[in-house]
Amino acid sequence: MKTIKIAPSILSADFSKIGEEVRDITLNGADVIHLDVMDGNFVKNISFGPKFIKDVRPYSKAVFDAHLMILNPQNYVDRFADAGADIITVHHEACGDNLLNVLKQIKSLNVKCGAVINPDTPVEKIKSVIEYCDMILLMSVFPGFGGQKFIPEVLPKIEEVANHINKLGLDIDVEIDGGITKDNVKSVKDAGANVIVAGSTVFNEKDRRKIIEELRTI
Ligand code: DX5
Ligand code: ZN
Repeated sequence: MKTIKIAPSILSADFSKIGEEVRDITLNGADVIHLDVMDGNFVKNISFGPKFIKDVRPYSKAVFDAHLMILNPQNYVDRFADAGADIITVHHEACGDNLLNVLKQIKSLNVKCGAVINPDTPVEKIKSVIEYCDMILLMSVFPGFGGQKFIPEVLPKIEEVANHINKLGLDIDVEIDGGITKDNVKSVKDAGANVIVAGSTVFNEKDRRKIIEELRTI
């Protein structure tokens, strides 16, 4: 069994005190800080860019996981690497046939890389690049906003990716992102996900240590 890592998404944090928020979730057990980067084009929302991540970086030693929901990510990955991202994930839907090249570009920056697919994109679309990735991110909501409802149809896709990784015999994380709560976290772990993103579930809870621990152990 792979180690479960909890990755709060700071999209649901209070940006007016973001350094403190990131320090707080780290001290309360977050393994990964999930950074949702949105450009207002690939998704209908705008969040933050590399300067924001660079400024937040000193507040935590946890893994910085930059989820790029942007068009033409190849033009920006170097800036996210400079900002202190430890892993950068890019969407199949944004890269198309260029996905493998962008993943290799990220690797060349000495940063881990991952491929992401939306809920309605079949695993088949990224199967050939899985072996080049450090992590595969499966969206369980359509990207753009926190606080949406989990789409259970993603569960067989988690199994499909996890089985493929097992067959390859490689150590690749499977991350799930969107609508994760105490009620569905067991189902995604059982399917094979080991990096659990949770935005609203963590930030809407007063006792962050308790909710992070619950997401880890349920
Ligand atoms: C959606 C983002 C998610 C989102 C998760 O576009 O990629 O990371 O912020 O938020 P919750 O956990 O509230 O669905
Ligand atoms: Zn995300």
